[in-house]
Amino acid sequence: MDLRPEQIVRLDEAVPAVALLDQRRLPGEAVELACRTVPELADAIKTLAVRGAPAIGVAAAYGMALAQLCGDDLREAEQTLASSRPTAVNLFWALERMRDDPSPERARALHDEEVDRCRRMAAHAAELFEPHTRALTHCNAGGLATGGYGSAVGALRAAHERNRLEHVLVDETRPLLQGARLTAWELEQLGIPHAVIADSAAAAMMARGEVDLVVTGADRIAANGDTANKIGTYGLAVLARHHGIPFYVVAPSSTLDPQTKTGAAIPIEERDGGEITQRFAARNPAFDVTPRELITAIVTEDGVL
Ligand code: MRU
Repeated sequence: MDLRPEQIVRLDEAVPAVALLDQRRLPGEAVELACRTVPELADAIKTLAVRGAPAIGVAAAYGMALAQLCGDDLREAEQTLASSRPTAVNLFWALERMRDDPSPERARALHDEEVDRCRRMAAHAAELFEPHTRALTHCNAGGLATGGYGSAVGALRAAHERNRLEHVLVDETRPLLQGARLTAWELEQLGIPHAVIADSAAAAMMARGEVDLVVTGADRIAANGDTANKIGTYGLAVLARHHGIPFYVVAPSSTLDPQTKTGAAIPIEERDGGEITQRFAARNPAFDVTPRELITAIVTEDGVL
């Protein structure tokens, strides 16, 4: 079974509301959340009801269309959405694209184009897979994260369709378990063989020769190729280099940020320590930056770089 883009996020003009598949409740329950106001949608983005860089951008585009339908102050709506999460550049890219035409049609076109970009980059990325590849992925870069089809998971499904993929190791992805909850669920729906591992098991699996490549998505790619993605991605890239395993980033051009020169200038979201422990003081950086030297290739809809 494949998730249709409109099941993941859409504008329901009759209500009006931005309707989301609530990712906080997956895989236990597939429940839709209707955000009837822009502050409600911003809260849904902050609390990860909708998450993943391209999907955040798509949701924000629908949010601007919602604001226009409701007769809201559009500048205020844009600011509210822009302040929801800092790292994924797709959010700011989408808000800019909606500025001169915050219509439902423009938002839907942006959504369609994003899913199309995913299909194109997945086809390029699948060429990097040899027959019987055993891949490892981190976080969730599937259809849930892009509004349909997926980036890193898109690459996995395209490789699977071409009979090049044997198995996927899915990093659990502490602390919010996007891998164990969302990627595993998507791979199960797609019939792709997989196993969830604790994040801390990745090194040992590589040392045992059980990983042929690592593939992840991205939240922001700086002009020099440094890439921000879910916390733990940098560690995986270091491990992959140590074990001589290629490390691939698959992301649409909406994730490229030519204005930000290097990874050092990418804003990194620090989330509530309560997501780690309720009992002790905690630090909770949600993303890290992988330096470009550790990335074997970045794949966009335009090809393999
Ligand atoms: O905090 P999240 O779940 O929004 O983080 C998501 C990621 O890090 C994804 O890997 C990234 O957005 C790419 S999604 C195609």
